[in-house]
Amino acid sequence: MKLRVAIIEGGRSGEHEVSLRSAAAVAAACDPGRYEVQRYRIGLDGRWSPRPILPEPGANPEIDVVFPVLHGTFGEDGTMQGLLELADLPYVGAGVLASAVAMDKDMMKRVCRDAGLPVVEWELATRAALDASRAVARFGFPLFVKPANLGSSVGISKARTPEELDAALRLAAQYDRKVIVERAIAGREFECSVLGNEHPEASVPSEILPSREFYDYDDKYLLNAARTLVPAPLDPAAAEELRRLAIAAYRAVECEGMARVDFFLEARTARFYLNEVNTIPGFTAISMYPKMWEHSGLLLPQLVDRLIELALDRHSEARKSRYAR
Ligand SMILES: Nc1ncnc2c1ncn2[C@@H]1O[C@H](COP(=O)(O)OP(=O)(O)O)[C@@H](O)[C@H]1O
Ligand SMILES: [Mg+2]
Repeated sequence: MKLRVAIIEGGRSGEHEVSLRSAAAVAAACDPGRYEVQRYRIGLDGRWSPRPILPEPGANPEIDVVFPVLHGTFGEDGTMQGLLELADLPYVGAGVLASAVAMDKDMMKRVCRDAGLPVVEWELATRAALDASRAVARFGFPLFVKPANLGSSVGISKARTPEELDAALRLAAQYDRKVIVERAIAGREFECSVLGNEHPEASVPSEILPSREFYDYDDKYLLNAARTLVPAPLDPAAAEELRRLAIAAYRAVECEGMARVDFFLEARTARFYLNEVNTIPGFTAISMYPKMWEHSGLLLPQLVDRLIELALDRHSEARKSRYAR
């Protein structure tokens, strides 16, 4: 009997279109001999077609496992994962807690800092107190200003002057109540794919060479001019250090299934800094998560097999827990 895989795609986020492309790639990689794929599409208005997944256990008998291929808000942030927990369905990727923590850059940094990981120094501003004077005093200019919960570089600016900082804070505050103000790291940018539940493994790392001042939305999705190097041109010890840090961040956030962990290598100090953890990375033809695995010897169809297996394992592990005495 074939395993019935429900791919959820689209969603109410700025990354709706990217999600559709990622989902198409995942669907195409599902071996038709093993899986029967059904697509569940969520519109920008939050409506599902052809039908929604229902929050009651047993209410979705046509589904064996869910692969949410949703990026950003209402997909990658723990909300969808909460629905799938209520529905008692196995699903690919991080659970509710790790999804929510990884999505919130402030929370992710606090958790990773507590685990002794080198996170980029930051100060928090809020809509109610949209003030970055502490960040200016601590780090000087330039500064990076970001909404705490978003992705695809939306709402992110590099501020070089007090005037730019003002505009950057106001822009970021349009997207989130919480705003991160970070020290700018001058150096190189790297990514690493991690896969697993209890025993996560890291891929070969890659290097991102943005075509613009930083890796912004246009560079990610429109210009097609950013270059990526897989494997990253790092000496073996540095590559090993990056992989070790990627797994440590994955564990600190308590990720399961998969995540892409992103870093900077500061030119002046030759130190790696953790930038962010993406619990549902892109799966498009040009996406780094599958590309890094491909270079590590795991092709996309095998990667999908492995992710589904991890989802089923996690679900049966969770079943061992009691909920009442
Ligand atoms: N502190 C920083 N120093 C230097 N560059 C940064 C910094 N923060 C972000 N960037 C640049 O901005 C891009 C997007 O920021 P990131 O935090 O990864 O947001 P997103 O979650 O939207 O991808 C990064 O890929 C990098 O090019
Ligand atoms: Mg990023």
